[in-house]
Amino acid sequence: MINSYRELFSNNKKWVEETTNQNPDFFKNLAAGQSPQFLWIGCSDSRVPANEITGTMPGDIFVHRNIANMVIHTDISMLSVLDYAVNVLQVKHIIVCGHYGCGGVNTAMGNKQVGLIDNWLRHIKDVYRLHQTELNAIEDPAKRSNRLVELNVQEQVHDLTKTSIVQNAWANGKPLQVHGLVYDIANGILKDLDITVEDTHEIEGVYKLETVDV
Ligand code: CO
Repeated sequence: MINSYRELFSNNKKWVEETTNQNPDFFKNLAAGQSPQFLWIGCSDSRVPANEITGTMPGDIFVHRNIANMVIHTDISMLSVLDYAVNVLQVKHIIVCGHYGCGGVNTAMGNKQVGLIDNWLRHIKDVYRLHQTELNAIEDPAKRSNRLVELNVQEQVHDLTKTSIVQNAWANGKPLQVHGLVYDIANGILKDLDITVEDTHEIEGVYKLETVDV
């Protein structure tokens, strides 16, 4: 656990030395450009760092993180990341990664006012409402929270497929898969929810967009 601000820089120096010792061209190669295959949409939680938990390196994953790994279609930051990842970087996989014990999800399950963030968490309450019959039947609050974490990931995967960015990529024959994952902070295990979507079949009618020529 780091408490000192200065330590960030001594650590950085150490990391540069170690990395360069292992591969003298490491930074030279990265400076030439990036061509990651993955876009990661994860939670801002400090315990869920995309690279570390997947054993990947700088250059491997394009990352967007926000509270509770949400895909809000009015979020210009998320949309810009998605557009750039799909249309410029041409990633093959989009990963939505939730995590058990998510503070955002737990807060959204309750009724306490927290402040401005309540507006963000409202989107999770909407997911709860969609699945309230299943969720209300789970008595153990921890288990109910875990299930909402999974359902929230599932909903964000579907929300990605509703975007024109993803639908146009598929219409143009791009190989693009959208995956839903959950990370368990308590044991470090990353679980595939097996809800991968790779075409428009699962998109509900009203969300299907006709292709436009640009
Ligand atoms: Co979280």
